Amino acid sequence: MKEILQELERKREAARLGGGEARIEAQHAKGKLTARERIDLLLDEGSFEELDMFVEHQCSDFGMADKKMTGDGVVTGSGTVNGRPVYIFAKDFTVFGGSLSLAHARKIMKVQDAALKNGAPIIGLFDAGGARIQEGVDALGGYAEIFQRNVLASGVIPQISVIMGPCAGGDVYSPAMTDFIFMVKDTSYMYVTGPDVVKTVTNEEVSHEDLGGASVHAKKSGVADGAFENDIEALIQIRRLIDFLPLNNREKAPRRPSYDDAERGDEALDTLVPPNPNKPYDMRELIEKVADEGDFFEIAKDYATNIVVGFGRLDGEPVGFVANQPMSLAGVLDIDASKKAARFVRFCDAFEIPVVTFVDVPGFLPGTKQEYGGLIKHGAKLLFAYAEATVPKLTVITRKAYGGAYDVMASKHLRGDVNYAWPTAEIAVMGAKGAAEIIFRKDLGDEEKMAEHVKDYEDRFANPFVAASRGYIDDVIMPHSTRRRLIKALKKLRNKQLTNPWKKHDNIPL
Ligand code: HXC
Repeated sequence: MKEILQELERKREAARLGGGEARIEAQHAKGKLTARERIDLLLDEGSFEELDMFVEHQCSDFGMADKKMTGDGVVTGSGTVNGRPVYIFAKDFTVFGGSLSLAHARKIMKVQDAALKNGAPIIGLFDAGGARIQEGVDALGGYAEIFQRNVLASGVIPQISVIMGPCAGGDVYSPAMTDFIFMVKDTSYMYVTGPDVVKTVTNEEVSHEDLGGASVHAKKSGVADGAFENDIEALIQIRRLIDFLPLNNREKAPRRPSYDDAERGDEALDTLVPPNPNKPYDMRELIEKVADEGDFFEIAKDYATNIVVGFGRLDGEPVGFVANQPMSLAGVLDIDASKKAARFVRFCDAFEIPVVTFVDVPGFLPGTKQEYGGLIKHGAKLLFAYAEATVPKLTVITRKAYGGAYDVMASKHLRGDVNYAWPTAEIAVMGAKGAAEIIFRKDLGDEEKMAEHVKDYEDRFANPFVAASRGYIDDVIMPHSTRRRLIKALKKLRNKQLTNPWKKHDNIPL
């Protein structure tokens, strides 16, 4: 009996070693942790329960029958993050470069199915060379079955992908269909086809980093929602993110006791908006002054910086913040900002996380680049996302709310539940100068007259009271009271009920 037990332990030990000491060392030498080390850091200590540790591939082509490594390149199972259940799979680069065989795919599918059935988030840690080249169509089929499960789980359980090494070919599309993708700086890269294929097809020479490194996806393409310095920081931050999210779409996001006074005012907010309307200020400061303990988990911080989105809490309740950022492109809405915010609003709505919107927007960005790029369709994404959202929507206009962008940014007209404005708000079709130049085109040469027209327009519209007189703004509030007012409003919205008409699904402008 003892021998059988020892045999099990020996097999486990061998499986835990993955591709062996030398490959583990090589992994460490690249500044990367192994799959199991990553899982240990991500999950609560001792909570990991591994599945399918002894799985092997069934491929016999290209001499593979003699090359078997238990686990087959992915470590899967479940555990807890701060006591709450999560499912996990982590690609093991030390085993066949983490490449995907049918057996490997089936391990991932098993945790995907369990996560969906049991209503818990799933986290994928990627570090792999794509389809197992020796396997052919079996690997392709395996990918497609994973993709199918990603889609069915979308909007039901949170799905998070962390790219911690290569992520190429078939490996990229599963993360692409999850809710969030994070990368590790310098050690991870993501692309559909690598530098060699790029060179053959387009004759373009490009490095792994320049083609698909964190600097590309977290800043330029917007594929990644953030980039972290190293594996450890990435995993710690994912734990932090999980704390803001519900386990599934039938549960509320976890409330947490707040040590920050719900009545706390902040006098500094009274002077946040500069007297000169063309001067920027940092909208992030408002979010941090309003949120519990200034704790803000920002999403896509370095992409479309003219809009800021992320999670925080108000009196312990998780909310999603969306805010125009006057510090970047004057907070204008462009293609990238619209896409970034639309996706975030839709995530919040799918998972019943109230959306708090801070508005200071001079409009949509004009120009051929934007129009040729499809600003109409992309801007409509954000409009659509806010309009379809049935979660509590709270809006505060701090300064500019001009034109179509006023409508888009969770206005009353899009079923905003509580719409406040600061006394510094300017709600109009456009800025006073532009407006006067159109209405009084005949006076364009006369500087004095034009100055008068601009002033008239400002007096009439550069305030929140016209909108308030029509009930489009529920109240004009003191900036310092913003946190208190939002918390009060949020409490009243806790039992909000609103449903959209039945449909198979909507047809958001993609
Ligand atoms: C089988 C693979 C593999 C793969 C890597 N390995 N990728 N084995 N199938 N796809 C193995 C290597 O043979 C090697 O085995 C070990 O993993 C480590 O790989 P190295 O090349 O030594 O590592 P490194 O130099 O760090 O390079 C990493 C890499 C490179 C850039 C990812 O391995 C690479 O280019 N791999 C191929 C990528 C690719 O073209 N994949 C197919 C994509 S097509 P040993 O035994 O020597 O340690 C695809 C289509 C699916 O995915 C589409 C579905 C929609």
